[in-house]
Amino acid sequence: MARVAVVTGGTRGIGEAISVALKDAGYKVAANYAGNDEKAKDFTQRTGIKAFKFDVGDFAACAAGIKQIEADLGPVDVLVNNAGITRDTTIHRMTFEQWNDVIQTNLGSCFNMCRAVIDGMRERGFGRVVNIGSINGQAGQYGQVNYAAAKSGIHGFTKALAQEGAAKGITVNAIAPGYIDTDMVRAVPPNVLEKIVAKVPVGRLGRADEIARGVLFLVADDAGFITGSTLSINGGQHMY
Ligand code: CAA
Repeated sequence: MARVAVVTGGTRGIGEAISVALKDAGYKVAANYAGNDEKAKDFTQRTGIKAFKFDVGDFAACAAGIKQIEADLGPVDVLVNNAGITRDTTIHRMTFEQWNDVIQTNLGSCFNMCRAVIDGMRERGFGRVVNIGSINGQAGQYGQVNYAAAKSGIHGFTKALAQEGAAKGITVNAIAPGYIDTDMVRAVPPNVLEKIVAKVPVGRLGRADEIARGVLFLVADDAGFITGSTLSINGGQHMY
């Protein structure tokens, strides 16, 4: 039986590449998205992967969303917490909303989604969770106290849940992408981005499929001894 995988923020950017890679590897995939109906429709038409609209920052919406996915595809074996937003600005300009939106969407979502699937994974004695962190959660980044705090939180969350899941066949790992060629990174002012890329030893932005490759590795059935780890995929920009 094909395993069922959920990818949050799974219709665009890194999430899209993860959804497609999982489908190509034989998983039944549900791609979650929050707002962009047009992109999601286009994604489903191109890939044949069904998209499910709900806000991962909303606890009740996640419970309902997982219920719907399980009714459609079956019990969730693999969860990839990928959804994330930026609201970059220095702290002296940051509003409470800019802080809170990023914390709720990027970190709160990991709790909301894991809480919705963990009982089933424990009962079935199998689960794979991959949380998408960030180089900026490891190293910090000027203009990102909200994002860096949320992503850093994801790395702690991963290690704690890995300990809880280990005896039940549930592995929990993180991937820490560097600067990947997506809409999110393209929104960084070009003069700032240029300086960042100049510090990447590999000398370029990463590609979304280079993150998806790491996810496939971590969610495999025979990856049961890999848990609580963080896989950095950043072109050598930060060696942690
Ligand atoms: N370290 C120290 N000082 C810095 C700095 C840095 N990294 N970056 C900027 N500064 C300084 C500038 O030199 C400037 O100083 P002066 O006024 O003395 O010249 C001052 O801070 C203001 O800089 P900006 O002109 O850039 O200020 P701004 O208000 O227009 O913009 C900002 C601030 C929004 C933070 C902007 O610099 C920015 O967008 N930075 C990029 C943030 C970033 O990397 N975001 C990543 C998004 S992608 C992502 O998050 C995915 C992932 O996981 C990797």
